Amino acid sequence: MKDDAQATTSLWMATANTPSQSPLKGNIRTDVCIVGAGIAGLTTAYLLAKEGRSVVVLDDGPIGGGMTGRTTAHLTNAYDDRYAEMEKLHGEDGSRLIAESHTAAIDKVEEIVWNEHIDCGFERLDGFLFAPPNESPDLLDDELKASHRAGLVNVEMVRRAPIESFDTGPALRFPRQAQFHPLNYLTGLTRTFTRDGGRIFSGTHATSITGGSDARVETDLGAVVTCDAIVVATNTPVNDRVAIHTKQAPYVSYVIGVQVPKGSVTRALFWDTPDPYHYVRVQRGTTNDILIVGGEDHKTGQENDGYERFGRLEQWTRERFPQIGEVEFRWSGQVMEPVDGIAFIGRNPLDHDNVFIATGDSGQGMTHGTIAGTLLTDLLQGRKNRWEDLYSPSRITLRAMGEYAGENINVAMQFKDFLTAGEIESVDELKPGEGAIMREGLSKLAVCRDNGGTIHKLSAVCPHLGCLVAWNSTEKTWDCPCHGSKYRADGRVYQGPANSDLTKA
Ligand SMILES: Cc1cc2nc3c(=O)[nH]c(=O)nc-3n(C[C@H](O)[C@H](O)[C@H](O)COP(=O)(O)OP(=O)(O)OC[C@H]3O[C@@H](n4cnc5c(N)ncnc54)[C@H](O)[C@@H]3O)c2cc1C
Ligand code: FES
Repeated sequence: MKDDAQATTSLWMATANTPSQSPLKGNIRTDVCIVGAGIAGLTTAYLLAKEGRSVVVLDDGPIGGGMTGRTTAHLTNAYDDRYAEMEKLHGEDGSRLIAESHTAAIDKVEEIVWNEHIDCGFERLDGFLFAPPNESPDLLDDELKASHRAGLVNVEMVRRAPIESFDTGPALRFPRQAQFHPLNYLTGLTRTFTRDGGRIFSGTHATSITGGSDARVETDLGAVVTCDAIVVATNTPVNDRVAIHTKQAPYVSYVIGVQVPKGSVTRALFWDTPDPYHYVRVQRGTTNDILIVGGEDHKTGQENDGYERFGRLEQWTRERFPQIGEVEFRWSGQVMEPVDGIAFIGRNPLDHDNVFIATGDSGQGMTHGTIAGTLLTDLLQGRKNRWEDLYSPSRITLRAMGEYAGENINVAMQFKDFLTAGEIESVDELKPGEGAIMREGLSKLAVCRDNGGTIHKLSAVCPHLGCLVAWNSTEKTWDCPCHGSKYRADGRVYQGPANSDLTKA
């Protein structure tokens, strides 16, 4: 699969053959228009089409070209942000609904895979959570009890996780987790969705999204989709300016895929407990397996040392899995961390009733995206859903106010960059493939010399809410440190909340 947005390529992108769809050329009408062909958009599209609704999906890149192509695809009800913490934020009932919905999402993926014969390597396996030797075992004990209270009664403490080469110490075993090849899954969803009459247009950027009685999505190609309802599944909503973006924060996460002798690592998911934590799985290959290890997260646009982070991931992996060979894949992607740990799925706040969003994946977007499919289908079909209030995008979780304030102070701090000097004084300092911030009078410019030697001179001001973007030398992109908008080296936007390009200087 080709992706012109980021420089790195994931294992999935290298091995998938997602179908290409044409751009939308003329005006059309449909019941529901979905913007975004990642797991959230396509699951919703598939489920609605199954119920006989006419659905159009628009995406400005290829199918799965967003974060679904950059995931590690652990499907899990073991909660990244911990049940002990969720219980404090959302109460025991909330914690039970979280466990129930993520369990149901894994079941839903399994059901779709079997019913539609999707060849995506879906498999059930155990997940193991362990703490590093210097950490108190209380965390695991507390999480065991909280998981049981959340209804996951089969979670148990085991003496160590099943990794021969190093002793993890006591670990929590979460049974019936799963993994799959995310892009092969989307390929299957696309095949069945289009078989059921659904229409997908890629290479089609939604420029304007308007709800109400004359709901419509306008596109960069001039064609307009008129519809009864709109689902914005763009990972982070491009139709919302402030309400959601003050309640979630963007983080970059890094992944390596390392060759490992076939069968030498137990088929399981592994996670440790530091913040940021490491996440590990195995992908079966023909001559060898690939051990996939992720971690080293940081706030988007606030660090620029991706290759050092890949190096640290490799070192961590070699110390624990000495049988590994060459690193075959290195990639990164962005996750949205909601201040209270769970996704925002439902009606878009301060908007018409027929505009819906799915965002706030919290590193669990495979299950959150599938929950979005189920929940949004119920809401669009006029049915009640017991998860509606929990995931409501309008919710305010008072107990998460400390986290909310912390993330927004961090955003406010980014504006100090307007006062600092530039990183370079002249474009002559840039080698091919490099970018930097340059001061020109009172303005700050984002300048880069692409691999072909062409200089791109752009305003560094992010069109979302005016923070200054930063160069990401790993992905050759401009990243906004405030709410995570991302732009190609030439300034074209590919990830929201901004929905327009950096302006040419
Ligand atoms: C490194 C990494 C590891 C991860 N590991 C896991 C994991 O193990 N388990 C897990 O559950 N989750 C994981 N996640 C999270 C998960 O991958 C994401 O949450 C999930 O893929 C998001 O899916 P989505 O459908 O919401 O968004 P996306 O897949 O990003 O899809 C959004 C789509 O919208 C399109 N779009 C955006 N703006 C417009 C516009 N204006 N017009 C038209 N189209 C537009 C984009 O092109 C894109 O295709 C990981 C994420 C990363 C980055
Ligand atoms: S993403 Fe909000 S200001 Fe850039």
